[in-house]
Amino acid sequence: MNNELKKKVKAFAPASVANVSCGFDVLGFAIDKVGDTLQAEATSYPGVIIESVTGPGNLSTDPDKNICGVIAKAMLAKLDLHQGVRIRLTKGILPGSGLGSSAASSAVTAFAMNELFGNPFTEKQLVEFAMLGEKLASGSAHADNVAPAIMGGFTAVRSYEPLDIFKIPVPNELYCTVIHPKIEVRTELSRNILKKQVELKTAIKQWGNVAGLVAGLYSSNYDLIGRSLTDYIIEPVRSRLIPGYFELTQNALLAGALGCGISGSGPSVFSLCKGHETAKKVADAFTEKAVLLGLPFDIYVSKIAEKGARIIDNE
Ligand code: HSE
Repeated sequence: MNNELKKKVKAFAPASVANVSCGFDVLGFAIDKVGDTLQAEATSYPGVIIESVTGPGNLSTDPDKNICGVIAKAMLAKLDLHQGVRIRLTKGILPGSGLGSSAASSAVTAFAMNELFGNPFTEKQLVEFAMLGEKLASGSAHADNVAPAIMGGFTAVRSYEPLDIFKIPVPNELYCTVIHPKIEVRTELSRNILKKQVELKTAIKQWGNVAGLVAGLYSSNYDLIGRSLTDYIIEPVRSRLIPGYFELTQNALLAGALGCGISGSGPSVFSLCKGHETAKKVADAFTEKAVLLGLPFDIYVSKIAEKGARIIDNE
């Protein structure tokens, strides 16, 4: 552990795919390259200043309304320091995309603050602080995006009370292809439309798939991973918010995807694939369908990113 106090840090936290089809609020993985960057500078006086928020979206710089401000304040209060912080956030992910936009901001804030003040918190505490951001953004303190955004890789939340998160190894050739149709789906809304109760026979099918997916990841059994990527509970409700959802996923499966699902609360749609070549074919299949549907979109092809939040520059 490095306990040195720093004046300034610059950190990055990646985008992520949460739920991964059958694992609502439990499973998630980090993706490469896309994410949020944050510069944090210690001030000699208390308080949090959000100097700027740049990039896509139109987020407040009021520290009581901005995720980064709320997390930084909570961390400073816990540390009981008579110091403050000045923050500059660069968004790489559009809010409401289903790619863990609020989670990336939350994760990068918790991580950067910890680095700035000499690493006083554990990784689990950083996840707990980052969950405050999810609570502010969506009304729910879920950890399935912030866990991979901080810890990297593929993660599972075994329990929320108490918080218990573990990492799942991923097969070498596992790739994901994600299409982000450029419409906004607010997580709060897409949580509010979910049914509050699940029939036992449906729950049995769902937790069978969660077990299959985790076992498939551990044993590099791509067929088992594919067979397990079915969501009987959330997808039937949320897919209505995504134009062309079934056409997009059908085309991806025809192109060789192991399976598909809604990324987080949507509108992004992800697929898991064996090998980079197949992942690129799936990107073409998504593209072909999105063009036919007249949807503006972005596409990402990525390995499951090993690294979560990290320092990218020390000043
Ligand atoms: N598990 C969350 C949801 C992820 O699906 O609502 C989105 O933040």
